[in-house]
Amino acid sequence: ASGLFTYDPGFMATSATESAITYIDGGNGILLHRGYPIDQLAAHSNFPELSYLLLFGELPTKEQYNEFERTVRSHTMVHEQLSNFYKGFRRDAHPMSIMCGVVGGLAAFYHDHMDISREEDRRISAIRLIAKMPTLAAMCHKYNIGQPFMYPRNDLNYAENFLYMMFGNPCETYEINPVFAKAMDRIFMLHADHEQNASTSTVRLAGSTGANPYACISAGIAALWGPAHGGANEAVLNMLDEIGDDSEDNIQAFIDRAKDKDDPFKLMGFGHRVYRNFDPRAKVMKETCDQVLSELGMADDPQLKIAKRLEQIALEDEYFIERKLYPNVDFYSGIILKAIGIPTNMFTVIFAVSRTIGWISHWNEMISSGNHKIGRPRQLYTGYTQRDYPAE
Ligand code: SDX
Repeated sequence: ASGLFTYDPGFMATSATESAITYIDGGNGILLHRGYPIDQLAAHSNFPELSYLLLFGELPTKEQYNEFERTVRSHTMVHEQLSNFYKGFRRDAHPMSIMCGVVGGLAAFYHDHMDISREEDRRISAIRLIAKMPTLAAMCHKYNIGQPFMYPRNDLNYAENFLYMMFGNPCETYEINPVFAKAMDRIFMLHADHEQNASTSTVRLAGSTGANPYACISAGIAALWGPAHGGANEAVLNMLDEIGDDSEDNIQAFIDRAKDKDDPFKLMGFGHRVYRNFDPRAKVMKETCDQVLSELGMADDPQLKIAKRLEQIALEDEYFIERKLYPNVDFYSGIILKAIGIPTNMFTVIFAVSRTIGWISHWNEMISSGNHKIGRPRQLYTGYTQRDYPAE
């Protein structure tokens, strides 16, 4: 039952992956995490609590939350040797290329004595990954800009700690901006899990071979890097820069390109494999974008104006209406991240930091169910029938 797509001779029988973690109703724009709607979670919860819910299946009591949060904070540091791994990369290496390497490298430090068939070993692997991803991500940025790595601080919450490791430095006190911290937590929540998307399916496929969780998450990071998947938020900002201003002509020219079958250009941040309605995350992301930019006195940010005008014109365009193409989670996230001061090459890394809880929850669900056969999608052979090698 947990196979992906099983082709049986004689007739096509499809069996989907079974999971109880996230439910998407693409036609009605519904996203539930363990039954709770994403908009209610975004309004009342936070990323650590959502992480607990995704991993363990229920909202934590106050004591469970405090214990979970404390345990995560106590694992935020990485082995000192890992910092040498960064020095092997060029300074201008894309942070996603570094993350693919260093996350897989965690196995060299933390997996030797782990047995993934033991629940406690799976739990601590999940905690370690949730805790260390922000540290490794911020180290990529520090390495890129030639500043020293910042050690995590256990007096800060998850989002605050990430901002501190990204923007703090040893020479001065870093003041956490509460607007940025709240927006960062919201961004982490909205990217946490999304059912069987390409990167989650990659993690499950790798996990089905018994590979260690660090290698599986590294495989998920590689899949997420694609511009059609996690790389879209960086591509949205590049697109808004190319459009240049919110004049109708400029915007219409890009919409016409997106509609042109001979032009590979797609409207970045629009459309989805599943949603045929608004991506519910995009609605919350747009509200957050408005909140953050108005609190920063940036309500008339030029890129925000272009994005809003582009959304308005596209949603009135026959091509987009017919195909039920709406803004997705990536359409506004980049504008928020840029307002916080995050460089564009870190956008997909932040997506990976957040999606790690989704990936590892799916990995844990699959391994703990014990009914996973090695994922081996079957093929429909379209090549030559047997033929003989030409005689001398
Ligand atoms: C994410 O799976 C997930 O859950 C992913 C994700 C997650 O949380 O893990 O939600 C994160 O990946 C969001 C998507 C980010 N990517 C982008 O924003 C890149 C731009 N979007 C497109 O590349 C596209 O919409 C996809 C890849 C997301 C989906 O592509 P599909 O499956 O081809 O979309 P479709 O079947 O709905 O397309 C129907 C039609 C096609 O045209 P026709 O063949 O009918 O003429 O709509 C067209 C598509 O060519 N189309 C677009 C378009 N998206 C689809 N045309 C112009 N611009 C677009 N953005």
